[in-house]
Amino acid sequence: MKPLIVANWKMNPRALGEARALAACAGRAARAKRGVAVAVAPPFPYLAAVRNRIRPAVLAAQDVSTEPSGPWTGEVSPAMLKNLGVRYVIIGHSERRALGESDEAIARKVSAAARVGLVPIIAVGEAAREAQEVIPSAIRTQLASAVAAAPRRRLAGAVIAYEPLWAISTSRGARPDAPDNATRRAIYIRKLLVGLLGERIASTIRVIYGGSVTARNAGAFVSRDVRGMEGVLVGAASLDAEEFVNVVVSVAQAARGGVRA
Ligand code: PGA
Repeated sequence: MKPLIVANWKMNPRALGEARALAACAGRAARAKRGVAVAVAPPFPYLAAVRNRIRPAVLAAQDVSTEPSGPWTGEVSPAMLKNLGVRYVIIGHSERRALGESDEAIARKVSAAARVGLVPIIAVGEAAREAQEVIPSAIRTQLASAVAAAPRRRLAGAVIAYEPLWAISTSRGARPDAPDNATRRAIYIRKLLVGLLGERIASTIRVIYGGSVTARNAGAFVSRDVRGMEGVLVGAASLDAEEFVNVVVSVAQAARGGVRA
């Protein structure tokens, strides 16, 4: 499986022109490095405007409604995203959980998205840094709950983003996870997925790492030898065009064997 690089722009940039320029750079990087898959998650209002510029990178949304249609002011349905050409949707990002999004709502979003053929990128991660040998119970709880409502076979090809909150660049004192620890987490998440969804579906699911990923460390997270992290979710560094291009280059190099995790 090609490593997946997801650019999570969050609520940026301020102007459409900047979004177009960033998108064009992401597209150029994706064209130059065919050994990786790139997805760009802009805010909703930019989705349609950047769609053609990012190719061959694909579109991701940052959220989706639990509901298919109806009186839900401010919400965006899975079908609307699908019809716009969106491939992936990030669900359960810690910044949304912090606003009160519950495990139950996340499970419903995963199910609603998967049913229309969107690919969920399910974000999980613990709040506080723990000893490396301790597997945070938050991962197990969040993951089990997130996949509980969706038909299993619809989760084939889904993505799990492991993002420890303490590593996200906007957290106080943030530091990226150590790549070998992230690899251990990926292996653990994969084991959980086998238990939750069965070997066949679990083997189609990518686990990716997020939290202070930069061009300098991105390659180290993508391990080749074991089935560890198979991509990265990039926040702050995806807003700097040159930095993001270098993230893509670094992951592509690692995937070819230039950098070992
Ligand atoms: P960061 O954000 O790369 O800025 O740490 C990652 C995320 O929150 O998805």
